[in-house]
Amino acid sequence: MPEKQTQAPVVTVDGPGGSGKGTIAMRLAEHLGWHFLDSGALYRLVAVAAMDRGVSADDEETLGRVARSLDANFGISEEGMVVLLDGNYITGRLRSETVSVFSSRIAAFPFVREALIVRQRAFRKPPGLVADGRDMGTVIFPDAKLKIFLTASAEARAERRYKQLKEKGESVNLTRLFQDIKKRDERDSTRAVSPLRPAEDAHVIDSTELSINEVLREIHVLLEKNGIS
Ligand code: DC
Repeated sequence: MPEKQTQAPVVTVDGPGGSGKGTIAMRLAEHLGWHFLDSGALYRLVAVAAMDRGVSADDEETLGRVARSLDANFGISEEGMVVLLDGNYITGRLRSETVSVFSSRIAAFPFVREALIVRQRAFRKPPGLVADGRDMGTVIFPDAKLKIFLTASAEARAERRYKQLKEKGESVNLTRLFQDIKKRDERDSTRAVSPLRPAEDAHVIDSTELSINEVLREIHVLLEKNGIS
C-alpha cells in the first residue's frame, strides 16, 4: 500500500485587525524558519485589482472572477514584504483605509472566498507554514498543528492602527478609526460564510494588556507543548 503522504505542519494565527496577529505571525514564521501566509493581503489584492478595474464592491460575480485571475506575487525586501499586482509594486496601497474598507466588504462574498481557497492552501510547503487571517484555523487549515486566536479590545486596536497610519503619514482620526473597526468587526463576525470566530480547538490570547514579546512568550510555551520547534 502506498504510504500516506504527510503534509507540512501549519500554525494558524487568526483574529481581528489590529490584534497584532500580523506581526506575531511573521515573527513566528521567522523563528521557525517556516513559510508565511498573510491571507488578508490576498483579500486586499482583490480589492486593489477590483478598484483599478472600476468593479463595484457589490458585484459578487465579477469580484469572484477578479479573485480567480489574480496575478499576484510576494517578495521580501529590506523594508519587509513587497507585493506585486500584474507585475507592478502596490505594497504602499495595500494597507490604506480605502482598501481596508473595500476588502472587508468583498470578503463577505462566497465567490471571492472560494476563489482564494486553493491559492491559500498552496502556501503549505515544507518545512511548515504560519498562516495569518480570519478563517485559517476554521476553514483553510482545519488540521493545523497549533491554532492561535488573538484578540484585543476595539479601543486598543484603534489606537494601534492610529499610530501605524500616523507613522506612514496618513491623515487619520481616532474616533473614526474606532467606529470603522467596530463596523468591520461586526461585518467580519456576522457574515454567513467563514465568520471571524475562534476554532473550537484554538488557544485564545487577549493582547489588550500585553506587549508583542509577552504574546510571543505565551505562544512559545504552546509551541513547546505541541512539539513544534
Ligand atoms: O487582516 P487584514 O486586515 O489584512 O484583512 C483584510 C480584510 O480581509 C479584512 O476585512 C478581513 C478579510 N479577511 C478575511 O475575511 N479572511 C481572511 N482569512 C483574511 C482577511
